[in-house]
Amino acid sequence: MNNSRIPNFFRLAVPARQAALFEPELAQDLDALRSTLNSGGLSLEDAASIVENVIGRYALPFSIATNFQINAIDRFVPMVVEEPSVVAAASNAAKMVRAGGGFRAKMEAELLIAQVELRAVADERGAEAAILAEQEALLGKAREAVPGLVRRGAGPRRIEVRRIGPGHLVVHILMDTADAMGANLANRVAEALGPRIAELSRGQLGLCILSNLSDERVVRVEAEVPFEALVKGGNRDEGKKVADAIEAASVFAERDPYRATTHNKGIMNGVDSVLLATGNDYRAVEAGAHAYAARKGTYSPLATWRSRDDHLRGELEIPLAVGIVGGTLRVHPTARLSLALSQIKKGHELAEMAAAAGLASNLAALRALSTDGILRGHMALHARSLAVLANAAPEQVDLVAQKMVEIGDISEAGAAKCLVLLRSQAPGGS
Ligand code: MEV
Repeated sequence: MNNSRIPNFFRLAVPARQAALFEPELAQDLDALRSTLNSGGLSLEDAASIVENVIGRYALPFSIATNFQINAIDRFVPMVVEEPSVVAAASNAAKMVRAGGGFRAKMEAELLIAQVELRAVADERGAEAAILAEQEALLGKAREAVPGLVRRGAGPRRIEVRRIGPGHLVVHILMDTADAMGANLANRVAEALGPRIAELSRGQLGLCILSNLSDERVVRVEAEVPFEALVKGGNRDEGKKVADAIEAASVFAERDPYRATTHNKGIMNGVDSVLLATGNDYRAVEAGAHAYAARKGTYSPLATWRSRDDHLRGELEIPLAVGIVGGTLRVHPTARLSLALSQIKKGHELAEMAAAAGLASNLAALRALSTDGILRGHMALHARSLAVLANAAPEQVDLVAQKMVEIGDISEAGAAKCLVLLRSQAPGGS
């Protein structure tokens, strides 16, 4: 079992970070793993077999967020993201949540929706009755369309009919797609059933396609952070002030869609990074998440926070149709490595991890906004990157970054200047 808490992981050089992550059984193959990580994993040939008109590969940083404990299991959280601070912020927030027992996450149901649209239905009531009367036969036909899924104990589960306008119906086929995201499976079932359903409705067949509003595949994740864990030094009263400020930031998002949108963007920083790292369709999840956020008529925050007796409590609810088999995962070695590193064995575990990363990112953002403001943290991290670019030795990076913040010059020139200054002050420096 992993221990996701690796103190000072961020201070290590990249090869040392790689070595620190691998369990003994993976370490036998450390060279191969390193070559996957260092090359980005995907060969040009594989890239060209995934999409069209390929002219090369496009690399992004691949990081690990530390400190995550989800349902009492420690997990390294793989994240692919171009935005500075996201990984550090998630790791930091996960450390706070860890002090309160870690994230508790649960996927309530795991059903994907396939839609069959019906137009020009003269007798809506009669059509609905006819379709529901043949539900069992339709489900049997749906099962025949996805035999592999049925063999794995999953498959189509039930049928629902919705009336959405005059003469306009939609039939939903709800299906368990096992550990796959399931878009192709749902599309196959919708297309297989479409003609018979249209016949039963005595209307015209419209579109046959999955729905990305996966409101039957929702993850709920909760976190509690003791007041002391919210501040450096562990002062309870100071921690309570931060918790109250985070609650106020949550209320702002609950009352204002403009703020809720940015609040949710912070959540998606964590969620999308995990989805990218694991080869999942983040556009599908984004579309579903925002539709879910607006399901009550106004756009609302996906996560909310409240300050309680001695702790801050947050919860997030988000639809997450993700998979650990099929799609890009078949060909992308880094995506498979991500799953191995986080020891994800089931689709719901991946959804729960992505949701925990989302809640952690939200906590970190609200804490920063409610205390120092977002810029200070961003600037400190940016200063570290500039120090590395200026060729500061690993042990000099923090000192150079600190100096840059002190003199208020966070630029390449500032980094070079502070490095010279530091070297001149070092014993034996010139
Ligand atoms: C930036 O990527 C995300 C934040 O704007 C989120 C938020 O405001 O809650 C910091």
